[in-house]
Amino acid sequence: MDCTLIIDNKALEQPVKEGTIGPSVIDISKLYGQTGMFTYDPGFTSTASCESKITYIDGDEGILLYRGYPIDQLAEHGDFLETCYLLLYGELPTAAQKADFDYRVTRHTMVHDQMNRFFTGFRRDAHPMAIMVASVGALSAFYHDSTDISDPHQRMIASMRMIAKMPTLAAMAYKYSIGQPFVYPQNDLDYTSNFLRMCFAVPAEEYKVNPVLSRALDRIFILHADHEQNASTSTVRLAGSSGANPFACIAAGIACLWGPAHGGANEAALKMLEEIGTPDRIPEYIAKAKDKNDPFRLMGFGHRVYKNYDPRARIMQKTTHEVLNELGIKDDPLLDVAVELEQIALKDEYFVEKKLYPNIDFYSGITLKAMGFPTSMFTVLFALARTVGWIAQWSEMIEDPSQRIGRPRQLYTGETERDYVTVPQRG
Ligand code: CMC
Repeated sequence: MDCTLIIDNKALEQPVKEGTIGPSVIDISKLYGQTGMFTYDPGFTSTASCESKITYIDGDEGILLYRGYPIDQLAEHGDFLETCYLLLYGELPTAAQKADFDYRVTRHTMVHDQMNRFFTGFRRDAHPMAIMVASVGALSAFYHDSTDISDPHQRMIASMRMIAKMPTLAAMAYKYSIGQPFVYPQNDLDYTSNFLRMCFAVPAEEYKVNPVLSRALDRIFILHADHEQNASTSTVRLAGSSGANPFACIAAGIACLWGPAHGGANEAALKMLEEIGTPDRIPEYIAKAKDKNDPFRLMGFGHRVYKNYDPRARIMQKTTHEVLNELGIKDDPLLDVAVELEQIALKDEYFVEKKLYPNIDFYSGITLKAMGFPTSMFTVLFALARTVGWIAQWSEMIEDPSQRIGRPRQLYTGETERDYVTVPQRG
């Protein structure tokens, strides 16, 4: 395919690059040199910011592939650490590779014991996402021996450390908020069971991990593991493009994820369902969501890329039912509201026309709440799972020999040059 831009009657050939699947891209990297003009695309709706081999989304068809594997197959048959391996190294591990990877991650689950003292500096009512931004950033102060990004071995150790320590830090953030002692990891448990134990065990009692809940949470982690160039991943790449250390880059990603339009939507969606309360109030909220003068949006609905049912939402919905069944929750009023709201919105002209479907966050909150997590922990769990995606994308960027610092340009609409006026002269 060719592309010719005609600017001021001058024809300018622009190279077109083809991916393995998905839309081709027009390479405009020489455009400024040729024309003295920039392109303008706020929100990056038509701009590919990088080349990547990790995750593919077809938003119109509702397809999500990690390294070519459909998300539903991975969620059904795989486990989270295997998914981590796949995202990081490009292939599913052999049995020996899997055992070795699981072992290496497991050996890094403890955090430096002085982190305990770092935690006590926070107020008890601090939002756990605030604690996560700070504590992951602080890892660079504790693990100096893995901050040199030019050393592949240090990059690997930093990656292992973050994947392994995120559950420990997340559980510590939770325990701290409820005034319970930290629970150390127990490495004969699998990754997700270990996390559940660190969150819900207390020293005074035996804690037995429920395998159904552990499997469900592991699946939730798989669903959240990567999602190509979303806001937080782009943040990690941009932060990393300056050569910042990996802990600082992932802390930047966590900060971005916190926003309600991104990872914070699961917390916002559950709060919204609680506020609606009963199915009879749904029409009132649908009307609010459609009212252009009202900033309210149906949380857990809509997506920048999916203009069809989010494939993760289908699996999430199934997982919700599994968890509620296991816990013997027959009638959950929030689930009733969610199911009804989904039915009404999917038939409503406004949502149909704008292709607004439930996204992953619509059902995740109900599931996590049933498992015992408070709403403030929802985005933390998202961050825990997305860490591997951020690391895989960051590594891909660092290993790309053509990598340069990310530096977008702008359309300047401010004052033109003017002379400084001293304070007395300003009147
Ligand atoms: N409720 C009501 N109207 C909506 C919604 C919604 N949830 N989402 C989009 N719209 C409308 C919006 O008002 C706009 O209407 P108009 O064209 O008349 O101005 C139109 O749909 C397009 O919306 P947009 O804001 O231009 O779309 P976007 O691609 O910039 O935003 C989004 C995507 C996810 C930020 C947005 O759909 C949203 O705010 N959804 C609610 C928050 C949410 O659930 N976020 C989780 C996303 S999935 C997890 C993740 O990746 O983090």
